[in-house]
Amino acid sequence: MKKLLYIDACIRDELSRTKKIATPIVDALKEKYDVRTIVINELELSVVQKDLILKRTSGIIDPMVMSWAESVRDADRIVIAAPFWDMSIPAALKNFLELCSILDVTFKTDDKICYGNCKSEKLLYITTRGMDISTGDVLEQGSSYLNALSWLWGMGTLQTVSAQNLDYVSEEEIEKKIEKAIAEGLEIIKDF
Ligand SMILES: Cc1cc2nc3c(=O)[nH]c(=O)nc-3n(C[C@H](O)[C@H](O)[C@H](O)COP(=O)(O)O)c2cc1C
Repeated sequence: MKKLLYIDACIRDELSRTKKIATPIVDALKEKYDVRTIVINELELSVVQKDLILKRTSGIIDPMVMSWAESVRDADRIVIAAPFWDMSIPAALKNFLELCSILDVTFKTDDKICYGNCKSEKLLYITTRGMDISTGDVLEQGSSYLNALSWLWGMGTLQTVSAQNLDYVSEEEIEKKIEKAIAEGLEIIKDF
């Protein structure tokens, strides 16, 4: 069975609307893929600062961090679920991705340019936004960032499933938006 990496960055966990959308989609993907889940909330993430960069450039990488990066590299498909925070992704997810940015693991270089070293051909990003900001809007820096990172690491074509304006509508409308996003996601994964 092919491998799928699910990066769950739904920081509010059981309160998360993003998680409500992601869970049935990932459950459906379990029929096609061997799913490994990394829950960002459960990780002890060191911040990528000077000491860590110096260690990394000397080839010293924490084995746990290396195993995360190798999971990203080796997955056939990747799903990332994360709420829209401060016009982008939560810092904890960015931190995780920075930790996984390891030369000769997630990307390579030929001394002129960096290029991707990941196997995944498709990357699904599931998100919810408080304000009425659409995917691809200049204010929406979640999908643009993941798209750029996917170019760098070679994680495949990005598709985004989102619900927006959730902080400014009734509970009933929120539920409708969540249901619509789940249906969109289930449609996308028919060919994922
Ligand atoms: C720390 C934080 C930062 C947020 N920043 C933004 C933002 O910049 N733009 C926006 O539209 N909504 C923002 N929101 C609202 C969330 O995007 C929205 O409530 C989303 O549905 C939360 O997802 P969740 O239910 O999965 O946690 C923010 C919420 C939090 C808690």
